[in-house]
Amino acid sequence: MPYGWYGPACGGATMKVTILPDATAAAQHAARLVADHLCAEEAPVLGFATGETMRPVYAELVRLHRLGKADFRRATSFNLDEYAGVPPDHPASFARFMQDALFGQVNFAPGAINLIRGDAPDLDEEVRRYERLIDAAGGIGLQLLGIGQNGHIGFNEPGSSFASQMRVTELAPSTRAANAPAFRPDPVPTHAVTMGIETIVAARHCVLLATGTAKASAVARMLDGAVDEGCPATALRAHSATTVILDPAAAALHWQRRQV
Ligand code: GLP
Repeated sequence: MPYGWYGPACGGATMKVTILPDATAAAQHAARLVADHLCAEEAPVLGFATGETMRPVYAELVRLHRLGKADFRRATSFNLDEYAGVPPDHPASFARFMQDALFGQVNFAPGAINLIRGDAPDLDEEVRRYERLIDAAGGIGLQLLGIGQNGHIGFNEPGSSFASQMRVTELAPSTRAANAPAFRPDPVPTHAVTMGIETIVAARHCVLLATGTAKASAVARMLDGAVDEGCPATALRAHSATTVILDPAAAALHWQRRQV
């Protein structure tokens, strides 16, 4: 049974935390929220995240699509981030990740998928172009999020301002280490383009999925620690509608704190 409460938010915010029996069930629940959004909205605007946590979410969305339960025809999509200097056909690019995991297997209309060009000659101009596209789409309705082991969301590393806009940012050494396998034997890029924290919390609904023991400490900090820029994900505690979906491993430290 999902286990939810509305405790960790601050101010007038609403944060729902749902812990499911395992990582598969957690990913399926996240996919179901996306599918529900596709059904409920006339012109759904989705914000997608990348990372290993998201693969089973996209696999489930593809499955639901094949069953006729997830129709992307009227949807527009944006992505959170992309590595700077990395072209879309690079095997480690987030563009390639999305193409393989989701876009190549579902029915977005031509032109409805908006990806950040990490290899754009002028990344500041690329950021402005992307922000204009998000505005023109009427903002993001549902934003999927993962979380980094240091509490980052998108590529907003600890210390990023809660007022940050989309921008080029430097990756933390721990983030580069975590993402190294995808680039091996080449080095991981030092910079990325990311939606800012303010861009992310402008989404009407945020859905953060975290699974596995490696995320337990970041999850506990996000849910139980002070709301500050040392843990970018704590910005979600002040968001008007965030759903956090966890498996027991990712919830373990938060869970322990709730038992004492
Ligand atoms: C990258 C992405 C994040 C993602 C994080 C976690 O840093 N920029 O959006 O949440 O990785 O990835 P994983 O799910 O592989 O742990």
